[in-house]
Amino acid sequence: KRVAVLISGRGSNMTALIEAAKIPGYPAEIVGVLSNRSDAAGLETAAANGIPTAVRSHRDFPDRNALDAALDDVLRGWNTEIVALAGFMRLLTPRFTERWLGRMINIHPALLPSFKGLHTHEQALAAGVHLHGCTVHFVTPGMDEGPAIMQAAVPVVQGDTPDTLAARVLRAEHRIYPRALAALADGRVSLVDGRVMLTADTL
Ligand code: GRF
Repeated sequence: KRVAVLISGRGSNMTALIEAAKIPGYPAEIVGVLSNRSDAAGLETAAANGIPTAVRSHRDFPDRNALDAALDDVLRGWNTEIVALAGFMRLLTPRFTERWLGRMINIHPALLPSFKGLHTHEQALAAGVHLHGCTVHFVTPGMDEGPAIMQAAVPVVQGDTPDTLAARVLRAEHRIYPRALAALADGRVSLVDGRVMLTADTL
C-alpha cells in the first residue's frame, strides 16, 4: 500500500515507519512526507531517504478547508492509499477526515481515551497513574477520538519527569506504529461501521 506520512516536526515516528518499510515483505511503502511547516526536521530525514516531500503551510491559505484541499491534492498526486499522521500538529477538517476515514491513522502519546490533546505526559503524572503509553488509532473528526488499533503500555516510575516518561513512551511508539500500519496495509485491521475489526493474529 502507498502511504503518505504527515508531520510537523522532528519526525521520529516517521523515521520508524520509513525504516520498517525497508524490511522485505513489509506491506507498505512510504511514498511521500508532507509537512505543514517548512522547518520540520523530519523533512530532511525523509529527503535523505530519497522520499518525496512537500510543505503546505496554513499561512498560505485563507481557511482550514483551503489548506486541507491543498493537502488532499498533494496526497492524490502521490496516489496515496493510506495516510499516517506522525506528530502532525494541525486539526483536520471533518471533510478531510471523512474522505480518508478508515484509511488514516494517528499515533497519540497516551493510552486513549485517557489524556487527549497536548502535554499527555504531564497529564499522566498529574493523574498519578502507574501505567501510561501510546495508542495508534483511526482518525475521526473528533481530536484523539477515533477507535484504537494498537496500544502499548509503559510503567510510570518514581522520579519520572515529563521528559523521562516521554522518552519511554516514544520507544513504545516506534515499536507499535510500524506494526499497526502493517496490519492496516495488509488488511488485518479495518474500520467497519465506526468500529475496529481485527483478525486474531494482529495483537
Ligand atoms: C509523538 O509523541 C507523537 O505521539 C505525537 O507527537 C510526537 C511526535 O514526535 N503525536 P515525532 O515527530 O514522531 O518525533
